[in-house]
Amino acid sequence: CGIVGYIGHKEAYPIIIKGLKRLEYRGYDSAGVVLYDGNDLKLSKTKGKVSDLEERAKQEGTSAGTIGMGHTRWATHGVPNDVNSHPHFSNSGELVIIHNGIIENYEPLKKELIKRGYTFKSDTDTEVLVNLIEDVQKKDNLKLGKAVQVALNQVVGAYAIVVFDKKKPNELVAARLGSPLAIGVGEDEFFIASDASPFIEYTSNAIYLEDEEMAVIRLGKELKIRKIKDDSLVDPYIQELQMNLEQIEKNGYDHFMLKEIYEQPNVIKDTYRGRLHADTGIIKMAGVEDNLQKFLNANRILIVACGTSWHAGLVAEYIFEEFARIPVEVEYASEFRYRNPIINKDDVVIAISQSGETADTLAAIKMAKENGAFVFGVCNVVGSSISRETHAGAYTHAGPEIGVASTKAFTTQITVLTLIALRLANAKGTLTKSDYFRYLQEMELIPQKVEEALQTNDVAQKVAAAYKDASNCLYLGRGYNFPVALEGALKLKEISYIHAEGYPAAEMKHGPIALIDEQMPVVVVAPKQEHYDKIVSNIQEIKSRSGKIIAVVTKGDTQVKDLADHVIEIPEVSDALSPLVTTIPLQLLSYHIAVMRGCNVDQPRNLAKSVTVE
Ligand code: G6P
Repeated sequence: CGIVGYIGHKEAYPIIIKGLKRLEYRGYDSAGVVLYDGNDLKLSKTKGKVSDLEERAKQEGTSAGTIGMGHTRWATHGVPNDVNSHPHFSNSGELVIIHNGIIENYEPLKKELIKRGYTFKSDTDTEVLVNLIEDVQKKDNLKLGKAVQVALNQVVGAYAIVVFDKKKPNELVAARLGSPLAIGVGEDEFFIASDASPFIEYTSNAIYLEDEEMAVIRLGKELKIRKIKDDSLVDPYIQELQMNLEQIEKNGYDHFMLKEIYEQPNVIKDTYRGRLHADTGIIKMAGVEDNLQKFLNANRILIVACGTSWHAGLVAEYIFEEFARIPVEVEYASEFRYRNPIINKDDVVIAISQSGETADTLAAIKMAKENGAFVFGVCNVVGSSISRETHAGAYTHAGPEIGVASTKAFTTQITVLTLIALRLANAKGTLTKSDYFRYLQEMELIPQKVEEALQTNDVAQKVAAAYKDASNCLYLGRGYNFPVALEGALKLKEISYIHAEGYPAAEMKHGPIALIDEQMPVVVVAPKQEHYDKIVSNIQEIKSRSGKIIAVVTKGDTQVKDLADHVIEIPEVSDALSPLVTTIPLQLLSYHIAVMRGCNVDQPRNLAKSVTVE
C-alpha cells in the first residue's frame, strides 16, 4: 500500500492526490483521503484507483484543508471495496488512520475491543488498530503519541501508519515496523510517505524512519522521533534526496514500463560504471572487496529472492558456477524461510530485491543471519530495509522503477551479479585470463547490444498483433536462457493475463508438449549458443505438432529462421551475457500484447510492486 500525509500551510488535497498517484505502484485496489478543514474531518474513499478517488472526492466536495492523509491500497484483509478502503475512523470519529502492512494478532484484539463495546464497519485489521489506539487513549487519558506507542506495543505484525486526532489538529503521528516511511522536512511543513516520490518537488530533505520508530510531528514545533519499545529519543537524521522529478515521470512514453525498457542501455551502464575497468581488468565493488575472503571461502552461495528477482538469481546461478566454480542454490524466499533449511556459517547468502522491502526476502535474510551466514544484498532502492538488514551489498543503479512488471531492475541485477562472479573468478583463477578480459570487454558492449535489441520493437509489435488473442503461451530456453524463458512468461502473464509458462526447452517433451497444437504460440529463446543444435531439434518437435513458433535468434541465423513462424533477431553475444540481451524482445512482446488487449500495463490487476506482507 502507499501512504501520503501532509501537515503545513499549503492545500493538502492536491499534494496528497499527486503523491498517491506516484505511489500507485504499491497497490491500487482502492484509495482514500481525509482532510481536516480547520473544523472537521472530511473523508472520501472508494474501491478502484486514485483517479476514481478524485471523482468521488469531487462529488463529495472533499478538497479543503492544510492537514490530511491519503492511502492507496493493496488488499490483505477484506476485499477491495469502499468500506475496507483507508483511511479508517475510530468509533468516536476523533481518530483517523492510514496503514500499510498487517496486524497479525488483530483477531484477539478485535474480540477484546468488541467486549469493551467497540463496533466495526470494515473487515480490516486497520480499523482494529485505530480503535485500540482510541481505547488506550481514553483509558488513561493519554496524548495521541503516547497512545499510539502503547497500542503498538500490543501489536504483532508489520505496519507503517499515520494517525491524526481531531482534538489535537496541529499534529500527525507516524510509526513504522517492517514497512517503509519517509518524512519530508520542508519549511514549516512536513510530508509523510511510503517513499520520497510524493514530496520530491517540495523538499530534498528527508528522514527515513527506522523499524520500531515513531515520529510525532507538530506544526510550528520540531519533530520528535522515539523508539516505540523503550520511549528513548532518537536524533533525526536528515538526508539529502538523490531522486529527481524526471526519474519519476513518463517523459513522453505512453507507459512507465516502456520508458523503463528503453532505459536499460543507460542503467546497465550506470550499474557497472566506476566498478568495471576493462582496460586494467579491475572490478571494484566495496561490499565485495571488504568481504572477499568470505566469498572465496564460501562452501556455496544461497540466493534468496521473489518474482523477477528470483529469475535474476537463476541466471546468476549459471554465471557463478561457470565463472567462479562456486556451487549455487536459488531459493524462493518464501519457501526457504518456512522450511528448516540447512544454513552453515560458511554459506554466503545473496538476497536480491528491487524494492528492498519484500517481506519474505527480509524474513529469509533474518533467518540466514541468525544461522551465522554472511548475507549480501543486491537492491535497487537506496536505504531500503533489505539494504540495511544485510551485512554488505551492492546496489543496482536502475533508478526508480515504477511499472509494476519489473524490467530494468532485472537486467541491472544480472549486471551486478555478473560483476561479482567475474571478481571472484579473477581472485580464484577459475577463468583463463583471456576469457576474463573478454568478458570484461564484452560487458562494456552490452549497452550497445541492448540498444540494438530495442530495435526489434517493430517486429515485436507485429508478432504481438498476431498473438494478442492467444489464451496460452509457452516459453522455452536452454542454459542461461532458461531463466529468460521463465521471466518472459512471467512478464506476459503479469501484464496481459494470458496464461504463460516457461520451461527448459528439453523438458518440453516430458509434459508441456501435450499442450501443443496449432493454437499454441511457443516463444523459443534460441540465440547461437552451446547446444544450439539441441534447441533446433526442440523447435522441430514443436513444428511437427503444428505449434506456432516465435524465435529469438542471433542476427544472421538461418536454421531456426527456416522453421519458425516469426523470428526476432538480436545481436551476437556470448552465452553467459546473453540473458541481458535476449530478455529485451520478450519484454517488448509482452508490453505490446498487453497494450493491444487494453490492459493496464503499469498497474496490472491484483499485483503490487512492493509486497510488504508475507
Ligand atoms: C512483486 C513485484 C515483482 C517483483 C517481486 C519481488 O511481486 O510485482 O515485480 O519481482 O515483488 O520484488 P523485489 O522488490 O523484492 O525485487
